[in-house]
Amino acid sequence: MTMPDDTSFEHALALNALRVESTLRDLLDGNVRTGEIARPQQLMAAMRHGVLNGGKRLRPFLVLECARLFQADGVAALRVAAAVECVHCYSLIHDDLPAMDNDDMRRGQPTVHRAFDEATAILAGDSLLTYAFDIIADPATELPAAVKAELVLGLARASGAGGMAGGQALDLQAQSTKPDETGILTLQAMKTGALIRFACEAGAILAEASEAERARIAEFGLGIGVAFQLADDLLDLTADAGTMGKATGKDKAAGKATLAALYGGAWARQQLQGLVAQAQALLQPYGDDAVLLNAAASFVAARRN
Ligand code: IPE
Ligand code: IPE
Ligand code: MG
Ligand code: MG
Ligand code: MG
Repeated sequence: MTMPDDTSFEHALALNALRVESTLRDLLDGNVRTGEIARPQQLMAAMRHGVLNGGKRLRPFLVLECARLFQADGVAALRVAAAVECVHCYSLIHDDLPAMDNDDMRRGQPTVHRAFDEATAILAGDSLLTYAFDIIADPATELPAAVKAELVLGLARASGAGGMAGGQALDLQAQSTKPDETGILTLQAMKTGALIRFACEAGAILAEASEAERARIAEFGLGIGVAFQLADDLLDLTADAGTMGKATGKDKAAGKATLAALYGGAWARQQLQGLVAQAQALLQPYGDDAVLLNAAASFVAARRN
């Protein structure tokens, strides 16, 4: 397989981010949509603060690249990518709240509850989560109704009690429950893996790929999703807040259950290599069409922020 150099992957990621951000900016404008009564100014400003504030846009990239694998990276894919990013940004806004990780900085800027207030941050999160499903269901997302229903179901399952939100609950409980390695892996697969897995699978769903292709892409997504959290935990141990755009060195102090803290940096780096190689092996049937996804998997482990 042809390997892109780091710069061509980063270029593709940045280009995708621009497309996705322009879609998100339009979606988060102040104009009332059919069936809405009004878009409160402060709430919309808080939502924009939590979404249009940088961010790598890796999940939208995965939606678009997985859709492209099956020749379906048009406007509908872009809107689904934006919907997934809305769920991700909501999860960050709530993750940073005083009742959760109590963080002041995100993406190099004050967190939403710092820039506005706690109640507004909670409501901005609620509104972004709801908006994700609105974006998929909207007629402007031109996909067959059955495909939309599958996307809605997949996104709900990835985000809810059995996915991201459930994983966040386990993460908070872990301070007292002290989970073992299996418990930590479950927590990571839920709080971070589930949405990244769905981002990948969504590309295959909207492209109406076969069940077997969907399963393969979903497995790839879960692999890099678990790797993504492992890398995040490693970066919490090793990176500085300036590079990360958020506080670091907090997990251990907060008693967070992370494998990087439990087994150390060298172990985590080795695990990451294994997870990435396993995920990349799943892409083999796609040959050069999967060059960027292959690079995305490497990026997850090697990223600096
Ligand atoms: C941070 O996600 C939260 C985790 C799931 C570890 P990202 O590192 O993708 O955050 P942004 O979107 O680039 O800011
Ligand atoms: C967050 O994990 C996972 C989410 C679902 C948002 P972290 O709490 O480690 O994420 P950061 O380090 O604050 O970005
Ligand atoms: Mg957290
Ligand atoms: Mg956090
Ligand atoms: Mg973290």
